[in-house]
Amino acid sequence: MYKELSAETLSKIANTYGTPVYVYDTDKISHQFEQLNKEFAKTNTRFFYASKALTNINILQHILNIGCNVDCSSINEAKLAIHTGFEPTNILYTSNGIDFSEIEEAAALGVHINIDSLSNLEKFGKKFGHSYPVGIRLRPNIMAGGNLKISTGHQSSKFGIPIEQLNEILQLVKKYNLYIRGLHIHTGSEIKDVAVFMKVADIFVDLIPHFPEVSFLDLGGGFKVAYKEKDPTTDIAELAHEINIFLTGLEKTHLRQFECWFEPGKYLVSEAGYLVTKVNVLKDFNNIAFAGVDSGLNHLIRPMMYDAYHRIENISNTSGNKKNYTITGNICETDTFGSDRLLHEVREGDFLAIYNAGAYGFEMSSNYNARFKPAEVMVKEGIPQLIRKRDVFADLLRNQTPLI
Ligand code: LLP
Repeated sequence: MYKELSAETLSKIANTYGTPVYVYDTDKISHQFEQLNKEFAKTNTRFFYASKALTNINILQHILNIGCNVDCSSINEAKLAIHTGFEPTNILYTSNGIDFSEIEEAAALGVHINIDSLSNLEKFGKKFGHSYPVGIRLRPNIMAGGNLKISTGHQSSKFGIPIEQLNEILQLVKKYNLYIRGLHIHTGSEIKDVAVFMKVADIFVDLIPHFPEVSFLDLGGGFKVAYKEKDPTTDIAELAHEINIFLTGLEKTHLRQFECWFEPGKYLVSEAGYLVTKVNVLKDFNNIAFAGVDSGLNHLIRPMMYDAYHRIENISNTSGNKKNYTITGNICETDTFGSDRLLHEVREGDFLAIYNAGAYGFEMSSNYNARFKPAEVMVKEGIPQLIRKRDVFADLLRNQTPLI
């Protein structure tokens, strides 16, 4: 059983490295990966960590060490993966809206490529013909995911080639003798219902006869984790069971083997991460007690961008009387991390931990208001180590050039 990092451990880290600081516990990442492997033990499955969730190279190194593959949404993520030491065959690259030159770069690295548009598929065909196996990202017209901003498979989504364009795809495949090795459908993030994945599987059943060389079926990421107590999560055991039945059926029909690929981001790193902040100011008036912390939407944008709920605790006072607080950042627009949260009495100088911040936390941070990006600390086998220094003033000027 995994135990989250204690208030004491997080406070110690905050005292040593200062705040705001992101803290990642590698034990939790390993634990999540073990869960996947345990549940999918009997199933022909490969997992590719969706590195867009968190690309610190020390996290990537841990992902490599535990034997997980990596999924990249940009050429630079692929280069970070190569830099970390991943073999190209364990790297998957699925980008969208990109210039073909980026796909050429990915091909030069030798990674698996999923193509997201007819136009790039045609360019790929012209350049590579049958010589480079490739996957196609399809848009299935399925509405799924935690909220519209993180839904990618619906019928007005920009992602993938609309399934209605199957004929156009097949014409290109024929014209250029393309080697279509994989089909890819990612419907969104925070998908709690196994039925959504199985709907995608049904679509694959209909598509496979058109693609005789297909061997992997990529169902993307999107496993839901619990952001609050009793939050529904994706039932991984049920998913594995259903996928097993699905693959067995396919193999019987087609007399050959297929692999299912998944690209979990949040599932692997979300709960492993904490954002520890310090309370700068208390404002208590008219029944609203604001606890203003030394962070903001520049460091964790999820609450503001998706109305995401993140649990917050006062890790400096774990037993005092409880009271409702609204926790806000220090950015010059409304950046509320949580409203009316029952916390042990908060004093100026206390540390507040924001939980479940490993995925799309630091990764989506910015220097808005010319504030520094936070430091990152990794707890490996119980020992904290700095893995990214906090910005300093020179970082704000680094790429700016004076007019002559
Ligand atoms: N594969 C593809 C093709 C994706 O687009 C994504 C996420 C994933 C895998 C991983 O999804 P995950 O397992 O992490 O749910 N910033 C948002 C989430 C955006 C996800 C974008 N694509 C958030 O913080 O909720």
